[in-house]
Amino acid sequence: MKSRILKRLKEDNGIISGRQLSDELEISRVSIWKHIQKLQEMGYPIVSTAKGYRLRHCPDLLYPWEFPDRESQIHYHHEVGSTMDVARDLARSGCPHFSVVISEKQKNGRGRLKRPWLSSKGGLYFTVVIRPEIPPVLSPLLNFSAAVAMVQTLNEQHQLNAQVKWPNDILVSGRKLAGILSVMEAEGDLVTYVNIGIGINVNNDPTKKEPNATSLRKELAKSVSRQRLLSGFLKRFEEKSKTETVTGIITEWKQHAATLNRPVRVVTHNEVFEGVAVDVDDSGALIVKDKNDALQKIVCGDCFQS
Ligand code: BTN
Repeated sequence: MKSRILKRLKEDNGIISGRQLSDELEISRVSIWKHIQKLQEMGYPIVSTAKGYRLRHCPDLLYPWEFPDRESQIHYHHEVGSTMDVARDLARSGCPHFSVVISEKQKNGRGRLKRPWLSSKGGLYFTVVIRPEIPPVLSPLLNFSAAVAMVQTLNEQHQLNAQVKWPNDILVSGRKLAGILSVMEAEGDLVTYVNIGIGINVNNDPTKKEPNATSLRKELAKSVSRQRLLSGFLKRFEEKSKTETVTGIITEWKQHAATLNRPVRVVTHNEVFEGVAVDVDDSGALIVKDKNDALQKIVCGDCFQS
């Protein structure tokens, strides 16, 4: 009912009376009033005047009904430990493909290599549950596909030059705007789910604790709609995950890469590679040409431009 009331308020930029809402939605005026109160508590700026109710503006909220095309797949939370944990439990209990767990804040947001991910209010933190029919070895490609979908959405919506940095960072002006973490489970030769978690600094400011990070608000000098960004990303990512081939994903990723053809230093858990990043192969591994012109294939690590 709340989403139906909101829909009517959004359609009618002016004022709509309690009586009209009650007639149209076939519930009592008292029920309408109770729903309006609840919506106000949820953050919708609805004013109530002698003539009726008016939504002052559409706030940037991420409740399921703000995504009408996929409302039943959105799991919204004010605060969780990590959306990765909530998504894992959902995936294990059989939730549908492309379920999305969103949280306004995370107490224990995490990044790659068990690093913490600052998750204060104003950012966008979510995990998408994917159920692709692929062998486990191909699952890292979904990371690449998500990174490309996000970069393309950012560039289209905000005329930015966002880029991807191997393996899974999204940079703007050389600073980290977003990160992607994925977790996969498989049974035998088939993936049962891949959870893709994305954290983007949108209207939050991570720079006090992370000087090399940035946010959309900082880059664009204005607040940005998380709702529009998430909606655009999900549409694009869903389309890509249906249609793209392995080579297609990697080719697109390379077109947006900040890392390629540059001198890099790649730190893995037990080695450091220095050289020029010359390619990313079809498995998603980074190929670095070292000072002896030998090609090193790196599957996992942190890449720094040197
Ligand atoms: C990285 O750059 O190391 C990856 C960061 C991934 C952060 C996101 S925020 C949503 C999801 N929940 C988490 O705990 N982590 C991912």
